[in-house]
Amino acid sequence: MRIVHTVDALRDALASWPARALVPTMGNLHAGHMALIERARRSGGAVIASVFVNRLQFGPNEDFDRYPRTLQRDAERLADAGCDLLFAPDEAEMYPQPQTWRVLPDPALAGVLDGAARPGHFEGVATVVMKLFQLVQPSCAVFGKKDYQQLLLIREMVRQFALPIEIIGLDTVRDVDGLALSSRNAYLDPAQRAQAPQLHAALCALGEAARGCADTAALAALERDALQALAARGWAPDYLTLRRRADLQQPGAEDLAATGRLVALGAARLGGTRLIDNVEF
Ligand code: PAF
Repeated sequence: MRIVHTVDALRDALASWPARALVPTMGNLHAGHMALIERARRSGGAVIASVFVNRLQFGPNEDFDRYPRTLQRDAERLADAGCDLLFAPDEAEMYPQPQTWRVLPDPALAGVLDGAARPGHFEGVATVVMKLFQLVQPSCAVFGKKDYQQLLLIREMVRQFALPIEIIGLDTVRDVDGLALSSRNAYLDPAQRAQAPQLHAALCALGEAARGCADTAALAALERDALQALAARGWAPDYLTLRRRADLQQPGAEDLAATGRLVALGAARLGGTRLIDNVEF
């Protein structure tokens, strides 16, 4: 596996691969990322991974500074997994001038749920992903469904800008107790780690309860109860809600009656750690 840190070196290396599958990451790779690499390999093109902790998508009081940076171990894992090229720029290389131009996603998608809880987050994500797409010019790119809203947003960005890139979404990889794998799980102490699967369990329970739910008022009551139950167990939830998979808007009665249209999404803080998860119904 080649490792490059500059845009020039990236462009030189890419010249030999006409078809490329991109896996953008912020590093501290775990089995969930490795599943993305494995899926990228099946695309048949060269596999390009990026590791870049993108300041633009972190709020002023978020964990940019303490986000785990483990580049050497990440490179070893990627090489073992058959990745062809790792692009690991530093901030000066990625943003040589202050990134005053941004991709501004539609607030209907980027202003709800995580977008409401983390103002500017999806603008930062869309901007860096657009930049990575311009640099790598992949034929496909692979993202995890754990960041459900991010995946939808990137699909929509590709559609809006007519980018010739297939976006592949992969199911969330979980620990045996249901906790979605995430780099931020490393922040949890042992007691919090034991408690962390409660978020996934709450989303499963909400989705199940909503199966028999015919109207939106009853659904709102279920969501309120689920939020209160999680808060009573020591969490500080941002949201726990059932939405339409297609656009993350609130479902109508016809969505509730149909199958395969809904996703339960949640974000909640356990101590100082903010976890997100979702389950499709
Ligand atoms: O999902 C992530 O790790 C990041 O949001 C991404 C897509 C690599 C952009 O920084």
